[in-house]
Amino acid sequence: MFKKILFIFFLSFVAATTACKGKQTELSEGKKIYEVHCAGCHGVKGDGNGPMAKYLFPKPRDLTAGIFKFRTTQGPVPADIDILQTLKVGVPGTSMPGWDVLKQQDWKNILAYVKTLSPRLAKGDAGKPIDLPEEPKNTGESVAGGKAIFGQAGCVACHGLSGKGDGPAAGSLKDVWGNPIIPRDLTKGPLKWGNAGRDIYRSLWNGVPGTPMPAYGNTYTGNQLWNLVHYLQSIQQKLPEGYDPSSPRRNLITVSEMSGLLPTDCENSAWQKAKVSPVFLKPLWFERGETEWIEVKALHNKKGIAFCLSWEDDQVNISPVASDAVALQFPIKKISEPVQLPFLGLGNAGNPVELWVWKPQSTQSFIAEGLGTQQSLSNEQPLQGNGVYKEGRWSVRITRNTAQLEPTGYLSFALWDADIPKPMGLHSFSEWMIYEMEGVPEK
Ligand code: HEC
Ligand code: HEC
Repeated sequence: MFKKILFIFFLSFVAATTACKGKQTELSEGKKIYEVHCAGCHGVKGDGNGPMAKYLFPKPRDLTAGIFKFRTTQGPVPADIDILQTLKVGVPGTSMPGWDVLKQQDWKNILAYVKTLSPRLAKGDAGKPIDLPEEPKNTGESVAGGKAIFGQAGCVACHGLSGKGDGPAAGSLKDVWGNPIIPRDLTKGPLKWGNAGRDIYRSLWNGVPGTPMPAYGNTYTGNQLWNLVHYLQSIQQKLPEGYDPSSPRRNLITVSEMSGLLPTDCENSAWQKAKVSPVFLKPLWFERGETEWIEVKALHNKKGIAFCLSWEDDQVNISPVASDAVALQFPIKKISEPVQLPFLGLGNAGNPVELWVWKPQSTQSFIAEGLGTQQSLSNEQPLQGNGVYKEGRWSVRITRNTAQLEPTGYLSFALWDADIPKPMGLHSFSEWMIYEMEGVPEK
C-alpha cells in the first residue's frame, strides 16, 4: 500500500515537473519571439514604448496595464482565445500585424509570455462568455430599426450621421492612456474587432475598453442590438470578393506559371492567368482616407518573376520629394520555421531583408538590417518597373528577369500614398505573407 502511494506520488511529481518544464520552454520561446517581433513596437518591458512607437498612431498597447479591447467574455480581462484571435488577425486599420504565418505552438508560446507582462491579466478572471441571442432575420425592417437607434443613442456624436467616424465629438476624444482616438469609420475596411454579425454584436455589448466607445449591453435588448448590427452591416463598403479576414488563406499569394517573356506592363493579356489577391495594408500612422488594400498578381516563367500591383488613389503624386510608391520586402536568409522571419519593419540585426522599391522615377533594390539601415543594391540583373495611373488607379509592374525561384517563401508589401500628408512620409505595410510558385518543384 505504502509503495503504491509512493509510486503515485512519484508519478505526479514527474508529471508536475514535466508540465513545469513545458511551461518554462513556452515562456523562454515566447520571450524570444516577443523580443524580435513585438518589442520594436510594444517595448521590451511591454509598456508600449518600443523604438518604433513614436512613428505609430494609434499607439502600441501598453501590455503591462492589462486593459484589452477585444473580448468575447464579460469579465475584466480577455480569455486566452481572445488574445490568440488578436495575435492571428492583428488589428485592422492599425500597425498591429496579424501573425497567421506562425504556428499553433508559437502562438501558445507568445501568449504565455504576454501573460507574464501584466499581473492584472495573469490573475484576472475572463468571466462568462457574452450571451449571444439568436440572430433575427436581417430584413429591411431590422435595418430601419437599427438606423433609428443609431440616431437616438448618441452614436452620431462620435461616428457621424453616415457612420464615417466624423461626428462633432470625434476630434476631441482621448483613450485612457491620454492619447487621441478616432471613432472608427464604420463604413470602411475590415473593422478592428471583426466584421461578422457576432463580432459587431459583442463590440456593442462590451463597448471598447480603454476608449470612449460605451458598452450598450445593459441599455438595449438583444433584439435591438441585432437591429443595430444589421444597420451597420448595411452601410459597410463591400470587401473584396472571397476575402475572409480570419482565414489564413488571406495570407497566400499564388505565383502562376507562364511560358515566354514576362509581361512588361500590367495591361498584357498574360495577367489574365494570374490569381488576384487582395492584400490588406496597415498604416504606421493612421489618417482618414487610407488605401485599405492593394491587388496583387504574380507570374513566373521558371527564370524570373513579375508582379502587378494595383490600388485606388484619388490623386497622382509624382513629385520627387513626395511621390506615390510601392515596395516588396523579402527575407534574405532561408526561413525554415516562420518564427525565424526578420522583423517586419525592415528586418533586424543578423536577419536582413531585400526591398524592391518602385517610384515613378525609378525601380531599385535595397538591402536593410533594421530601421534606418537601407543600402542600395547594385544588381547585375536590375529590377525593371513601370507604373500607369488611369481612372483613379495606379497599376505598377515590377519584374526581375532572372531570379532564384524557391517553390515557396515569404514576402510583404508597403505603400506610400503622397496625398495624405503624414509625418515623414510614413507608409502602410502588409503582414508577412506566403507565396507559392506553381510548377516549381522542391529542391
Ligand atoms: C508595428 C507595431 C506593432 C507590432 C510589431 C506588434 N504590435 Fe501589438 N499592437 C500594436 C498597436 C498599434 C496596437 C493597438 C491597436 C489599437 O488599439 O487599435 C497593438 C495592440 C496589441 C494587443 C492588444 C489587443 C487588444 O485586444 O486590445 C496585443 C495583445 C498585442 N498588440 C500583442 C502583440 C504581440 C504579442 C506582438 C508580437 C507578436 C505585437 N503585438 C506586435 C502595434 C504592434
Ligand atoms: C463617445 C463616443 C462614441 C459613441 C457615443 C459611440 N462610439 Fe462607437 N466607437 C467610438 C470609438 C472612439 C471607437 C474606436 C475604438 C478603437 O478604435 O479602439 C468606437 C468603436 C466602435 C465599434 C467597433 C469598430 C471596430 O473597428 O471594430 C463599433 C461597432 C461602434 N463603435 C459602434 C457604435 C454604435 C452603434 C454606437 C451607438 C449605439 C456607438 N458606437 C457610440 C466612439 C463612440
